[in-house]
Amino acid sequence: MTRIAPGDTAVLPTRRVTFEYPDDMHPMWVPHMPEFSAAANAISLGMPYAEPLFIRAMRSTFDRIDPELRARSESYIRQETGHHTQHKKFNDIVVAHYPAVRHVQKLMAINDRWVWRRSPRFRVAYAAAGETISYGVARWTEAHLGELMDRAEPVAATLFCWHLAEEIEHKSNTYDVFEATDGSRLRYALAAAVGLATIATFTFIGALVQLWSERRLHNPLTWFRLARLSVSMAFVLVPTLVISALPGHHPRDFTDPIYLPQWLKLYDPATATMPLWGSLPDGLTD
Ligand SMILES: [Fe+2]
Ligand SMILES: [Fe+2]
Repeated sequence: MTRIAPGDTAVLPTRRVTFEYPDDMHPMWVPHMPEFSAAANAISLGMPYAEPLFIRAMRSTFDRIDPELRARSESYIRQETGHHTQHKKFNDIVVAHYPAVRHVQKLMAINDRWVWRRSPRFRVAYAAAGETISYGVARWTEAHLGELMDRAEPVAATLFCWHLAEEIEHKSNTYDVFEATDGSRLRYALAAAVGLATIATFTFIGALVQLWSERRLHNPLTWFRLARLSVSMAFVLVPTLVISALPGHHPRDFTDPIYLPQWLKLYDPATATMPLWGSLPDGLTD
């Protein structure tokens, strides 16, 4: 049963943002926190696998959902298509610096095929849980924006912040499709557990490969920071997923972060650009 609240019926905006990275951009784009850079890059490497999977899962329901939800889902697909297209470009830089991450990408492709061989209902639940994870990551990032992004490479920071802001914006769409076509909380909880374990494993392995290439793994500080990042993220993601699986819950019940959605309003359709992170106009300072 799809629950519609005022404002939920609107299709999502399409922002065709493209990013031009400096030729000398180093993939450790948050120089004072390479462990975060490596983890974020690992998540980015997974986007061209996870997001097309979510898109296919949504498309597979189009003959069973009402026209309004279908129109919204098509707008969701346009957003996700923009995300993984832009992340692919960014990933080329990461792969060029750390060719060993290709092995991680192969594992991601295998996982992608494994999920697609599950039942159609599981794929939709997996997409819905995946979007809840994205919302949780956005909420965690919003709470650490100054600490992480203020001294980051601005183009890369803009890519990640634009993506996360749109994840907040479309947090309900796949969940609505899941409720309209299935709604099994048990299946959702299982998909959430699989999704969280998958993203945690790939983020960890992907980060280790990059940090190994940077010769940082012998440094105890690297391990301390990785442990701190993992615990901090788990404190947001685990409760978010548990709450999202409870009967009667809907992503709409989650409070949106404030800053990223406000910043997203600065998208300029005439130039198809977001203001470069760190060059914020008056009235939007942190
Ligand atoms: Fe996305
Ligand atoms: Fe998403």
